[in-house]
Amino acid sequence: MLLILRLLLYVQVLLGLGRFAGLVTNPRLWETHISIGFVITALALIALRPRPGVPASGLRTAARFAPLAPLALGLAMYQGMVGGTPVVILHMALGLAAVGLIEAAAARERRALAGGSGGSGAGTGS
Ligand code: HEM
Repeated sequence: MLLILRLLLYVQVLLGLGRFAGLVTNPRLWETHISIGFVITALALIALRPRPGVPASGLRTAARFAPLAPLALGLAMYQGMVGGTPVVILHMALGLAAVGLIEAAAARERRALAGGSGGSGAGTGS
């Protein structure tokens, strides 16, 4: 499930950057950014819930709830409540922060389940 979540996050980044660069103009294609946004938010809440064998940490909790921030701001943008380039850039920063947090939490989970110490990061590869 974490793998699907990570893949969808990269699709989301590509769609978002494409839109920002003016490349994604097809409305149907763009609407997937909104749909994937809901799926990502739900998957993160489920996939990063506390799990036996994986130490609870602030990082994991932050990663679990991180997509809620770009989703909330994105929906406010969609509703026309907020707008303008600075808001879009803030939204992109929140989205990219969610990607980073989820990547880090996923890597920690992988290390913990592989039986590693998770401390040094040595020897477990990618
Ligand atoms: C969990 C991550 C994300 C969620 C839940 C999310 C959700 C949304 C939503 C609901 C909108 C409003 C759609 C609209 O106004 O039509 C939006 C707009 C946008 N998103 Fe995201 N997004 C996420 C991540 C990203 C990322 C990583 C980027 C780029 C790096 C990005 C770039 C954009 C841009 C540029 C817009 C505004 C487009 C416009 O107004 O034309 N988003 N996002």
